[in-house]
Amino acid sequence: MRIVAHSDHAGIEIRQEMVAQARELGHEVDDLGPAEGEKIDYPYAGAVVGRKVATGEYDLGLLVCGTGIGISLAANKVPGVRAAVCSEPYTARLTRQHNGSNIIAVGARVVGPGLARMIVEAFLLAEPEGGRHAQRVGMLTALEDPSIDLETLRAMGPACQ
Ligand code: RB5
Repeated sequence: MRIVAHSDHAGIEIRQEMVAQARELGHEVDDLGPAEGEKIDYPYAGAVVGRKVATGEYDLGLLVCGTGIGISLAANKVPGVRAAVCSEPYTARLTRQHNGSNIIAVGARVVGPGLARMIVEAFLLAEPEGGRHAQRVGMLTALEDPSIDLETLRAMGPACQ
């Protein structure tokens, strides 16, 4: 898969570990930096990766900031993005399988390099499941239209069918 990675200045080392792991798994990864000593704000880095994934330029994105939270919030402002903060492999696998997440965000002050690699591996080995999970992902996409009414949203879900 084509993968794009970016971080703020707090996430450099962990991002490099995640990029290395993805490449070892055979993926094509573009690492957008920053390099040591360079500063980038997390809202910008999250927006860059969010847009590149949402437009289809890349299949998946990897993001890192201090907590993973700020950069995921930025990416999730982009329609079509489903970015999840993950601190262990179980949620990294399930957010791909159930939520169709197309970006994971990791906190460099939360997880160490070995765990970050395991998170990337779990995310990249998983595939989105269809069925009821796909329907719920469809509900998330529908929510991108702020005018959708809640009854319409509810009726889209497997719980109503
Ligand atoms: C940067 O110091 C820090 O605020 C940022 O990396 C991140 O943790 C924000 O969510």
